[in-house]
Amino acid sequence: RIVRTVVDNVTDDVYAVHVVQVRARLARRRPAPGARPRPRRRHPVSRSTSRGFARRARAFDGRCRDRRRGSVPWRTSRSRGHFDAFEARATATMPASTVDDVVTVLITGAAGQIGYALAPMVCAGAATGPGKKIALKLLDVEFASEALRGVKMEIMDCAFDACVSVDVFTDCEKACEGVDVAIMVGGFPRKQGMERKDVLGKNVAIYKQQASALASKAKKDVKIVVVANPANTNAKILAKFAPSIPRGNVTCMTRLDHNRALAQLGERSGKATIEVKNAIIWGNHSSTQYPDVNHATIEGKPAREVIGNDAYLDGDFVDVVRARGAAIIEARKLSSALSAASSVCDHVYDWIHGTKEGEWTSMGVISDGSYGVPEGLVYSFPVTCTGGKWQIVQGLSIDERSRKLMDESAKELTEEFELAEQCLAESA
Ligand code: NAD
Ligand code: LMR
Repeated sequence: RIVRTVVDNVTDDVYAVHVVQVRARLARRRPAPGARPRPRRRHPVSRSTSRGFARRARAFDGRCRDRRRGSVPWRTSRSRGHFDAFEARATATMPASTVDDVVTVLITGAAGQIGYALAPMVCAGAATGPGKKIALKLLDVEFASEALRGVKMEIMDCAFDACVSVDVFTDCEKACEGVDVAIMVGGFPRKQGMERKDVLGKNVAIYKQQASALASKAKKDVKIVVVANPANTNAKILAKFAPSIPRGNVTCMTRLDHNRALAQLGERSGKATIEVKNAIIWGNHSSTQYPDVNHATIEGKPAREVIGNDAYLDGDFVDVVRARGAAIIEARKLSSALSAASSVCDHVYDWIHGTKEGEWTSMGVISDGSYGVPEGLVYSFPVTCTGGKWQIVQGLSIDERSRKLMDESAKELTEEFELAEQCLAESA
């Protein structure tokens, strides 16, 4: 009775973990084929506990179904992807996979530090959501092939329920074959003391080459998110050299900056991050990005009103979000990896499953001229997603200060693209 009371009182989140652990334990107890069955020991406490467990598991699976149907919300929506991942692992009644259930996900630069954090998140379903199986493809350069083999072994050893295969490649064309979602992390990272421009020449050359592999080998509607820096310009180069891929399918990640802005506002206001909505990252994933709070809300009220300190919001807040990547490099002597991987999952999850009613996120997408941003630049905008497509949020008021900051970032992106083209011409 005590065990049952305790189990009845734990939260669903803890319980999801418990279900996974107990089911794994039960599975391990199954004898290997041909092995002599071990005599079963009966124990009154364990029998009653397992009856309680079965009852609780049925109720939990029922609540998962309700939540999938949307009648009961997950406890927090910001971490929705991760709870769905738990759900995917915890519900033993997942249907047998069909070809449509399997999403082929490519991670480039998979032997690197973001790749190492990202691959398990993807295999747990954090990017593609519940009910999908993952065929994972990992690409890196020949030099990193041994490390890549190690990543594959570790992914296999995690025995993820949703992961149907893990394949490693050093040949980009083979890696791109049949890909649904391409997460482009491969490239040279910025080290301490380096400017982003220092890595530009090397990385744009990679993206020109990989563009043609994606165009010729990936699925026609492949969704691409570029993470490697300079992320916006790499994405623009990729789009330019893969003209057969729909322009809307090439994006770059500014979700990490968006999440950083939400976290800073949450901390400053003393509210949970889940209560902070509709901040915007405009422009480049660089120190000219403009984290805009003019339309953000905290617990449904304007963020400026809640925080009540415009000097902070126009000063330190902007500086901290802009320089967060550099601050992490300073502290870790390595570029952000865990938060980058988690933000990739958020980016892909929302793109596939849609943003919530009345909420938007930030994504680097090809400009259609909205808000006076030069057409063709890959620029971070506020976007909503529905039916696997993003749309730029229209009609937001832009004050004079915002206009100036948005234009500065657009100017930097224009110059960065010119420099990239110059580097490509020189190396041709
Ligand atoms: P890392 O050096 O640990 O990993 C990069 C990996 O890419 C390496 O394993 C390298 O061998 C591989 N690589 C190099 N050239 C390749 C090629 N042609 N094909 C396939 N793989 C190749 O670096 P990291 O810390 O994982 O960061 C990766 C990139 O992401 C960097 O450019 C970094 O600046 C960027 N980044 C972006 C964001 C963002 O928010 N957009 C955040 C953090 C880091
Ligand atoms: C980050 O924002 O953490 C990275 O893009 C920093 C960098 O330059 O690698």
